[in-house]
Amino acid sequence: MTANTNQPNPHSFPPRFTWGVATSSYQIEGAAHEDGRSPSIWDTFCATPGKVLNGDNGDVACDHYHRLDSDLDLIASVGVNAYRFSVAWPRVVPEGRGTPNPAGLDFYSRLVDGLLARGITPWLTLYHWDLPQVLQDAGGWPKRDTALALGDYAAVVTDALGDRVKHWITINEPWVAAFMGYGNGVHAPGHTDLAESFAASHHLLLAHGLALQAIRANVPGAKAGITLNLAAAYPATGSPEDQAAAWRQDGFANRWYLDPVFGRGYPQDMVERLGAASPQAQGLVRGSDLETIGAPTDFLGVNMYSRSVVADAPGEGFLDVRQLRVEGSEYTGFDWEVAPQSLTDLMLRLQRDYNPPALYITENGATYPDTVAEDGTVHDEERTRYFQQHLAALGAAITGGAKMAGYFAWSLMDNFEWAEGYDKRFGIVHVDFETQARTLKASGRWYRDFLARAQEGQ
Ligand code: NOJ
Repeated sequence: MTANTNQPNPHSFPPRFTWGVATSSYQIEGAAHEDGRSPSIWDTFCATPGKVLNGDNGDVACDHYHRLDSDLDLIASVGVNAYRFSVAWPRVVPEGRGTPNPAGLDFYSRLVDGLLARGITPWLTLYHWDLPQVLQDAGGWPKRDTALALGDYAAVVTDALGDRVKHWITINEPWVAAFMGYGNGVHAPGHTDLAESFAASHHLLLAHGLALQAIRANVPGAKAGITLNLAAAYPATGSPEDQAAAWRQDGFANRWYLDPVFGRGYPQDMVERLGAASPQAQGLVRGSDLETIGAPTDFLGVNMYSRSVVADAPGEGFLDVRQLRVEGSEYTGFDWEVAPQSLTDLMLRLQRDYNPPALYITENGATYPDTVAEDGTVHDEERTRYFQQHLAALGAAITGGAKMAGYFAWSLMDNFEWAEGYDKRFGIVHVDFETQARTLKASGRWYRDFLARAQEGQ
């Protein structure tokens, strides 16, 4: 089987492969002001005019907080054996540090019990971007204290749920949290300062290391890792200049996180390029930070959506790189290129260069402007094809020797897509945000049928 084959072979995946769907707290829960939850940076950001499309916010979202039982049935109806969700820090430790909120913990306890009762393995992400606003008021991720606070919060969650949750993801997409939060300002808290964004990146990685320590201390038999958003970087042409540009792009988007997580410290070429903006030059990399960050994990989680194709562009940003649109390629509603072969390339490269004990695709999916038929159904052929091509590419990565252990589709259902509000739909389940009706899309039916065949006889 090759990545060019449109149809993935359900029988080509290893037995006991992890098959899941993924969500995150702020994107689906709603109940933003209930049961003692404090505001997060996303509540504040949404309330700031001009930051989120149509002035949308997560006050209600998919109302998942009030629909837990029926959503658990929905998850089970897809036939997954795993569900990836995140815990809202402001719900369980509203002051950011200190006293836990029993009502917040109780929600996640019921979620976990509900999953286990349905034979679904919970995969818990500790941080998926909803930082308590009180911690942003104290400086947020550019400040070291935020990483220490995350370590304490991780102790609270592992203490409460570690008896039942064995799969832990520390931080989701630190590149996005650091760069889009503090560098280009597209995400909360909306700062635009390169040095701040690299300070944030160091503290997010430190937070990963500290969370790992809490997990190791509190959860016997835990499997723990981090989830990075990675995109293979290709040069626009074979010229040495474009190849160097692709390496810089890789340094910024991929190696900046991969190298320290795998115990190698920060890539020197990037440290030099950043100059005064590097965490080193800012005096932020202390004592045993790099050992903490580089402690062994049990897997690497990868969120993969697309690739980047870049050209050398002196003077463009601090990277001197320009992103190109590829003539003749297909693009999703986010203007992300559909590039399934890059998934195979990326997984094989990760296996070769970093040799992780296991690799999981913790998110993969696509947004398209869905059309809803009168009966509420969505015939999302493009999304179905996207999943087919990427699962075929995943099969090719396994054949090529990558230690793939699981795949999570993003997302279970349409939800709050950050700065794009409710405009961009990624679900395999359609959500009518007026009525909260959920309807499995054609892509969801395809995924369900595929999973049934992949798990036959298990
Ligand atoms: C990655 C993020 O983790 C998730 O929150 C987001 O919705 C998807 N990408 C799609 O943009």
